[in-house]
Amino acid sequence: MTRTCPFVVGIACFAILGCVTVVQSQVTLEVTEGNSTCIKAELSASFSITYDTANGTRTVTVPLPGSAVVGVASSCGGDGRSPWLVALFGDGHALGLSFSSNDSLYSVANLTLQYNLSDVSTFPEANSTDVVTVETTSVGMVARVNTTYRCISASSVIVGGATVTFSNVTMEAYMTGDDLSPNESVCTADQIFTTAPPPPPSTTTAAPAPVPTPPGTPNQGSYSVSNSNGTVCLLARMALQLNISHFSASQNKTIQEVVNLLPNQTTSSGSCDPTSATLVLTQGSATNLSFLFTLNTTSNRYHLTGLSVVAAWSDMTAPFITSNSSLDYLRGSLGRSYMCISEQTLAVDHNFSLNTFQLQVQPFDITRGQFTQADECQLDQDNMLIPIVVGAALAGLVLIVLIAYLIGRKKSHAGYQTI
Ligand SMILES: *[C@@H]1O[C@H](CO)[C@@H](O)[C@H](O)[C@H]1NC(C)=O
Ligand SMILES: *[C@@H]1O[C@H](CO)[C@@H](O)[C@H](O)[C@H]1NC(C)=O
Ligand SMILES: *[C@@H]1O[C@H](CO)[C@@H](O)[C@H](O)[C@H]1NC(C)=O
Ligand SMILES: *[C@@H]1O[C@H](CO)[C@@H](O)[C@H](O)[C@H]1NC(C)=O
Ligand SMILES: *[C@@H]1O[C@H](CO)[C@@H](O)[C@H](O)[C@H]1NC(C)=O
Ligand SMILES: *[C@@H]1O[C@H](CO)[C@@H](O)[C@H](O)[C@H]1NC(C)=O
Ligand SMILES: *[C@@H]1O[C@H](CO)[C@@H](O)[C@H](O)[C@H]1NC(C)=O
Ligand SMILES: *[C@@H]1O[C@H](CO)[C@@H](O)[C@H](O)[C@H]1NC(C)=O
Ligand SMILES: *[C@@H]1O[C@H](CO)[C@@H](O)[C@H](O)[C@H]1NC(C)=O
Ligand SMILES: *[C@@H]1O[C@H](CO)[C@@H](O)[C@H](O)[C@H]1NC(C)=O
Ligand SMILES: *[C@@H]1O[C@H](CO)[C@@H](O)[C@H](O)[C@H]1NC(C)=O
Ligand SMILES: *[C@@H]1O[C@H](CO)[C@@H](O)[C@H](O)[C@H]1NC(C)=O
Repeated sequence: MTRTCPFVVGIACFAILGCVTVVQSQVTLEVTEGNSTCIKAELSASFSITYDTANGTRTVTVPLPGSAVVGVASSCGGDGRSPWLVALFGDGHALGLSFSSNDSLYSVANLTLQYNLSDVSTFPEANSTDVVTVETTSVGMVARVNTTYRCISASSVIVGGATVTFSNVTMEAYMTGDDLSPNESVCTADQIFTTAPPPPPSTTTAAPAPVPTPPGTPNQGSYSVSNSNGTVCLLARMALQLNISHFSASQNKTIQEVVNLLPNQTTSSGSCDPTSATLVLTQGSATNLSFLFTLNTTSNRYHLTGLSVVAAWSDMTAPFITSNSSLDYLRGSLGRSYMCISEQTLAVDHNFSLNTFQLQVQPFDITRGQFTQADECQLDQDNMLIPIVVGAALAGLVLIVLIAYLIGRKKSHAGYQTI
């Protein structure tokens, strides 16, 4: 395990960052008040920022330098304010993370990025000298209170025209001691890597041979996740097809490989929390898919926010790893399941998409281990509409023919009488 982890992280960075050669330093940031530490973060981050020049836009990638310092605006919160970590770097640039919590969980409530376009060494030829501030509340970093949030895998947050990519994160807010808690809340992306590390490509695995011709429609599998007390908390039945673009060892070029998940060789696992649920599907040592559903307690609706894949197929030169945690698919309402019989394509990134068929999922609020009434997807409703429209048109046609026949009969009757 300890041997494969760094290897996996290396590949993950390669796959997700697309091999951006940015020197990443590990930065340690601490917010203290009096003698005690309330927030501590050890992380690497890089910023990909798009800005205007006189002749078009330009994108630069800037790492969070090791020289970053904690700004005075940082605070431990209290008096109705949120704990806030502000890291200052370079010529007037800043990264801010604000936290919120309740009795059981804490999370990054918002992320602020400030960058100074007058810094010509970072933003050459910028046509503006503004200090730009962008902010987002979709950060996706959540941990249990009194635990350290850990996410070694790279994860990206989109904020305004910029993308912040974090990696190697260990962080705790609302600390009770001066050191990071030894208990950890591990992010979903890392869980996948630790539950099923992909084998090194050189080993002979039982991976299915690549299928040169597109496979047929996949078979439907039934999967479930249970709580620690054995209660079923997530149900899914679906047929899945992976569409991965990767470098083929045999053909010496990048190919598009479409592979069906085989339900009879796939096992399911996962976890359920009040507002998030994870389903991990593992097919042998070759394919590992992870779904993250989140519940919006304001709207009482859930959707698929995250999808990750680890694939170690025989024709790959290296395991394929990718994830996206800002998706918005399979939207259903709490207390109901979500159903889509029609084929749907869930695009995850430019190299990976997942085709689903005959799908029904319920990630929250399962009663007696069974699906409840379903919210049906638009595609199914449209498909339902076609037979209705065709049927109505046929009925109309029959009616017209019938009327025409009756009129014709009446006319010919009248004709006979005049003779
Ligand atoms: C900080 O610690 C010092 C000695 O360790 C102590 O004298 C001081 O009162 C403490 N300050 C606070 C605010 O707790
Ligand atoms: C336009 O941009 C290119 C490179 O992006 C640069 O070489 C060129 O000098 C720019 N032209 C003007 C007029 O600024
Ligand atoms: C900078 O250039 C962009 C287009 O390249 C333009 O839309 C914008 O108005 C310019 N801003 C300034 C301050 O000149
Ligand atoms: C922005 O950068 C310019 C030039 O590097 C510097 O003079 C200015 O003080 C910076 N602004 C802030 C808010 O730090
Ligand atoms: C983000 O957090 C900062 C610091 O707590 C706060 O000043 C700001 O209003 C927050 N923004 C949003 C949209 O919550
Ligand atoms: C966290 O730790 C503090 C101090 O040790 C304790 O008072 C609190 O109840 C703990 N909270 C949880 C949710 O475990
Ligand atoms: C099982 O645990 C869940 C929460 O983890 C709880 O809601 C449920 O009532 C428990 N069921 C039983 C039978 O204990
Ligand atoms: C696989 O993905 C590629 C690129 O997105 C697309 O052109 C192709 O139609 C997809 N194939 C299937 C079977 O979904
Ligand atoms: C793979 O293709 C590249 C260029 O397309 C070529 O230089 C290289 O020799 C090829 N390798 C093998 C093993 O065929
Ligand atoms: C799994 O299912 C496929 C197709 O339904 C079948 O060909 C294969 O033999 C099955 N494998 C096992 C191990 O049951
Ligand atoms: C804490 O917040 C999470 C979501 O932010 C929610 O699911 C959970 O029920 C809350 N716990 C309590 C005890 O309020
Ligand atoms: C939850 O739903 C409400 C109402 O639709 C929306 O305003 C809010 O932004 C949603 N929250 C999240 C975190 O998506």
